[in-house]
Amino acid sequence: MRTPLLAGNWKMHMTIPAAVELVEALIADLTDLSDREVVVCPPFTALGALAPLVDGTPIKLGAQNMYFEPQGAYTGEISPLMLNEIGCTYVILGHSERRQYFNESDELINRKVQAALEHQLTPIVCVGETKAERDAGRAEEVVTTQLRGCLSLLKPEQVATLVIAYEPVWAIGTGDTATPADAQAMHAVIRHTLAELSNQQVADSVRIQYGGSVKPNNVDELMAQPDIDGALVGGASLKAADFLRIVRYAEHRA
Ligand code: 13P
Repeated sequence: MRTPLLAGNWKMHMTIPAAVELVEALIADLTDLSDREVVVCPPFTALGALAPLVDGTPIKLGAQNMYFEPQGAYTGEISPLMLNEIGCTYVILGHSERRQYFNESDELINRKVQAALEHQLTPIVCVGETKAERDAGRAEEVVTTQLRGCLSLLKPEQVATLVIAYEPVWAIGTGDTATPADAQAMHAVIRHTLAELSNQQVADSVRIQYGGSVKPNNVDELMAQPDIDGALVGGASLKAADFLRIVRYAEHRA
């Protein structure tokens, strides 16, 4: 069984006091969580303040990016060791905004994924096609190429510990969510590709999140799909009430 994983990607939002207030509201509500995992991924600057707050609670901390070297002359970068030290257990890698604005390639992401695993961080590896690619009928080809490029250096037992996030670029921040059927179809393609990269047993154990305009009013039908194992939430993770409603998806299912 795959434990559902609901993660908030705060992107470049939140001062430290606002981050503390949001996480305190989440902690106050999520006292009885046993059948799902919750992760928040604040900006680096808030990690230090949040780590002692989430300690001993069901909420885990993730980073939004990292570099693959453990230390060195890489001005402005953050290493896996630094994320370990500050209490992160997850790290988002290869988000489409990093690919688009910071020219991250599948090859670079592959090295980051390897480094994260070497340092006991669970990578949330993001893949997804643009609108133009979907309109051209290339969505599956683009996503499978990204997956192969980002995971090619991994052994099957390493693939087993990953989380994949399918985030169609056209759905991010637009309110234009993929239909549950379209998302499910791509998740099935991703699982099939994971089986080719490792084996079916491993592929069946990997959690695949959907991301892109996940909101309180669409999370239930997305999470009802057999291959959707969680959500990577941007905008709606910045408001406690919205994110809590997303985390508690099943309780509202018809
Ligand atoms: P939105 O939920 O704001 O569309 O963002 C999705 C996302 O990019 C999460 O990583």
